[in-house]
Amino acid sequence: MTEMMNQLKKIGIIPVVVLNDVKDALPLAERLMKGGLPCAEVTFRTAAAEESIRTMARAFPDMILGAGTVLTTEQADRAIDAGAKFIVSPGFNPKVTEHVLKKGMPMTPGVCTPTEIEAAMSLGLDVLKFFPAEPSGGLAMIKAVCAAYVNLQIMPTGGINAQNVRDYLKYDKIVACGGSWMVSGSLVKEGKFDQIEQLVREAAGIVKEIRG
Ligand code: 3PG
Repeated sequence: MTEMMNQLKKIGIIPVVVLNDVKDALPLAERLMKGGLPCAEVTFRTAAAEESIRTMARAFPDMILGAGTVLTTEQADRAIDAGAKFIVSPGFNPKVTEHVLKKGMPMTPGVCTPTEIEAAMSLGLDVLKFFPAEPSGGLAMIKAVCAAYVNLQIMPTGGINAQNVRDYLKYDKIVACGGSWMVSGSLVKEGKFDQIEQLVREAAGIVKEIRG
């Protein structure tokens, strides 16, 4: 694993963020840093994603910022230009993945079947996103596939929350879990940044409890 993946493994939980307004980017980044999860996957599901990443990356250069839901090479280029340090996609798109890897950037495409895992591994990847984690079999499925692909490490997202994240974090093939429960769209929209910081702090506490 790369140094950045090792850092993400130490952080343990990656807040998955959908930002509709760039003005929320800075207060959100501040609360993530203060609460103890100095990372985020900012999804390209909104027009505000690119500028939000740029704003967060400038204010907090040490934050490990990824761009999520990257579906095209053009989005990948914009995300990288904005300061994203890794690129995430919900599925495995060889064209986008090869494009990002050629630029020397880390990419974690989403997979949820052995066939997709092998296709992604054939490009040299050994850390993959398992998505959508809970509907696709959750930890039991991850353990089953990791038994076959012994060098594979997983970043699960989708349906992970404060109740079930402990079980994922206990499994040593999990790099970090992605989740939106501490940074939900409604909390951001309503400007409930105190509550976000509290949920982030609790999430960071769970990582410490499980991983030390
Ligand atoms: C997503 O696609 O939004 C992420 O996987 C997060 O999923 P979640 O909202 O279930 O945490």
